[in-house]
Amino acid sequence: MRTSVAILAAGLGTRMRSKQAKVLHRAGGMALIECVVEAARQIAEPGDIVCVTGHQSDQVQALLAPQGLRFARQHEQKGTGHALKCAQEEIAAEDGLLMVLYGDTPLLTAKTLLRLRDTQATSNAAAILITTTLDDPTGYGRVIIDSTGAVTSIVEHKDATPHQRSIRVINSGIYCFRADLLWKHLAEVQPNNASGEYYLTDMAAILQSHGHRVEHMHVDDPSELLGINTRIELAAADRLLRQRKNDALMLSGVTIEHPETVTIDAHVKVGQDTVIEACARLLGSTEIGEDCRIGAGAIIENSRLANRVQIAPYTLMIDSIIEEAAHLGPFSRLRPKSHVGPDAHVGNFVELKNTRLGAGAKSGHLAYLGDAEIGPKSNIGAGTIVCNYDGQRKYATKIGRGSFIGSNSTLVAPLEIGEEAYVGAASVITHDVPGDALALGRAKQVIKEGWVSKRKKK
Ligand code: UD1
Ligand code: MG
Repeated sequence: MRTSVAILAAGLGTRMRSKQAKVLHRAGGMALIECVVEAARQIAEPGDIVCVTGHQSDQVQALLAPQGLRFARQHEQKGTGHALKCAQEEIAAEDGLLMVLYGDTPLLTAKTLLRLRDTQATSNAAAILITTTLDDPTGYGRVIIDSTGAVTSIVEHKDATPHQRSIRVINSGIYCFRADLLWKHLAEVQPNNASGEYYLTDMAAILQSHGHRVEHMHVDDPSELLGINTRIELAAADRLLRQRKNDALMLSGVTIEHPETVTIDAHVKVGQDTVIEACARLLGSTEIGEDCRIGAGAIIENSRLANRVQIAPYTLMIDSIIEEAAHLGPFSRLRPKSHVGPDAHVGNFVELKNTRLGAGAKSGHLAYLGDAEIGPKSNIGAGTIVCNYDGQRKYATKIGRGSFIGSNSTLVAPLEIGEEAYVGAASVITHDVPGDALALGRAKQVIKEGWVSKRKKK
């Protein structure tokens, strides 16, 4: 049976106390809405998924546009029932199954959605909703179930009597409807409740009143159904998503020391037998090979590391590429478009920006290398500075294979240093240096014998 999905994501999320729409807040390295869309995409084609947007609609749509979904606008947030109504025109299929998800439940898995769809497809229920049992159900809609197991109604926390509030079985906000029956009766939802909103949850009682059966599918692990309404719940979701990611990596053969301190985004890949030390952060689209070590406190974002790379503690890296068996850190900083070749070494307090370090090249201490291409096996002495910027424009520097740049050199770009060249320590180099040459750009040392005692006598 064809399955369409509507994701409701138009609300501001007042309880977040934020200028940003709730579904754009992030957990596990993704916006909440992206987490829900990722699960939805595994049960339906992108063209059968409609996302209802309202608050910061442009940002939400821009974020999701690459995924090829459809969008509907809810201009005024009049409740979840009204939001779904807004999606109707965009949903191509009038029958089949319609799954409704809320954009603020980021822990939802595709496995649970598949189970819901299969349960619905084999039952004659008009709708099935996912429930769970919470120790503290405050804020959630309570599900009223009769002796036959059918759902007779859902009562929102605000509207519930003290007796109803003692019910701990809650509505997760995930439903699978028979689309024809939903559209036939959705207009019967009325805003006669404490919030004055059109509650989608009223559909349970409405369908039941027309003689249709509404069932529920109970999920035993409530963590998957956590709805994010406050920043405390956001932090809880982030923790759970991080834990889920860490567990998956550890089961695939990655060692993580003190995993509760480590932050790894959802789409990061890590190869077998890599060791990740405490407090490391691996972010964005980072991919790490096998047998690497990522030191404590390292932060690596959108970067690609080959096998056997060693990152010593507190190294920062963004948008960079590191080849096999290179060694970086501690305290190295790689800004965007840095490329470190195989077996190369970048040491403490070395900053690279848009710079390529060839195979086996070394820059061990205290250097700035910007817009530079450094040949294989070169040695960049401590304190070397590439002056790539004259206040208006940036210029390139090229250093040939096997060159030796003495400590504390100042390389004024644009500059080309040939292969196997030497630059004397503390030189200021303003002109190109041919290969095989020695360049000295500093005042000659002068010795004045006995100068000190003569001065004392004066
Ligand atoms: C909702 C359910 C509640 C359930 C809980 C589970 C209703 C009436 N209540 O409550 O039974 O236990 O989720 O997490 O549905 N939205 C819109 N347009 C609107 C209002 C909301 O698109 O006009 C979207 C929001 O962006 C959000 C989702 O719908 O992603 C849920 O809205 P929210 O206000 O968080 O509902 P809850 O109070 O959590
Ligand atoms: Mg909610």
